[in-house]
Amino acid sequence: MLDKLKEIEQNARKALHQISDVDELNDFKVKLLGRKGEITLLLRGLKELSAEQRAEVGKVANQLKGDLENLITSRAEEIKQRELDLRLAKEAIDVTLPGQPILSGGKHPLSLVLEEMIDIFTGMGFAVAEGPEVETDYYNFEALNIPKNHPARDMQDSFYISEEVLLRTHTSPVQVRTMEKLAPQVPVKIIVPGRVYRKDDDATHSPMFNQIEGLLIDRNVTFANLKGTLMLFAQRIFGEDVRVRYRPSFFPFTEPSAEMDVSCVMCKGSGCRVCSNTGWLEVLGGGMVHPRVLEHGGYNPEEVTGFAFGIGIERITMLKYGINDLRLFFGNDKRFLKQF
Ligand code: FA5
Ligand code: MG
Repeated sequence: MLDKLKEIEQNARKALHQISDVDELNDFKVKLLGRKGEITLLLRGLKELSAEQRAEVGKVANQLKGDLENLITSRAEEIKQRELDLRLAKEAIDVTLPGQPILSGGKHPLSLVLEEMIDIFTGMGFAVAEGPEVETDYYNFEALNIPKNHPARDMQDSFYISEEVLLRTHTSPVQVRTMEKLAPQVPVKIIVPGRVYRKDDDATHSPMFNQIEGLLIDRNVTFANLKGTLMLFAQRIFGEDVRVRYRPSFFPFTEPSAEMDVSCVMCKGSGCRVCSNTGWLEVLGGGMVHPRVLEHGGYNPEEVTGFAFGIGIERITMLKYGINDLRLFFGNDKRFLKQF
């Protein structure tokens, strides 16, 4: 039996070297040391031996079992280490590969157009003024000759903070704010870019949008000056062959008043959803500053006249880039924003 154990040991040591994966190793261990393993089966023969022999063989067998178990465990570790080395070699990081580029942001299309518009008007001598987005009823309406309960308030329903304080519905309140600071000096020649708010929401109307106000007060300012200024602006922003039209309109703070439309770029004037099938898209309102507004600002309407206009920046941007829904500006969709 001792010879048999020796033989088992020699065979096992040889076989262990051939084994190269963990599953195979487990099978091997069961076959050798398991309850029906080679050694266990052999030791069943112990009962046929004398007590003395039994003691000796038992000792050798136990020693052998311990040794083999240690060998198997260290072989298992070797195999695991080899597998890890192989994987690391395969997945090694190639430090010579180019890195992930860090994406740099770009300007929002509205910012691009706003900057271009400011350039055009400052180029004509207008200075940039600003005013608060949270405005009083006085500057937003009353000072602009829109009394409480005047029907013109319906077109500019807004978000009220209190009865007397609201989110401004247009940039026009900065007209009287600026006049109060400068009167009776002339000329007043400002543009006012800024955010405004209304209870609107569709493809061409956003509840928050941007305007640029323009105001010129001087001696002998006429409607022809207004038309010339706006025509020059339209040509600069859309190109020399832009088609525009003026429609008579009404604003309580200008008299006479007009709105300017630009030929719809989406349908080339044949009519579509963006231009409500008219072929034109309204981009601004304007007119000659109402004498009462001049008075509210501290000017004498017998001595000076002025023109004013308010341009929708989203509308200009839609026309300039052929965008058919202004809600795209505020959706933060990178697929849209990446194009500018
Ligand atoms: C006004 O807001 C006047 N304050 C303009 C003005 C200024 C007239 C100075 C006279 C003198 P209106 O409501 O038409 O007017 O708006 C002006 C422009 O803002 C429109 O032509 C349009 O281009 C844009 N606009 C108006 N409502 C929205 C909206 N909800 N979303 C996007 N653009 C809008
Ligand atoms: Mg309008």
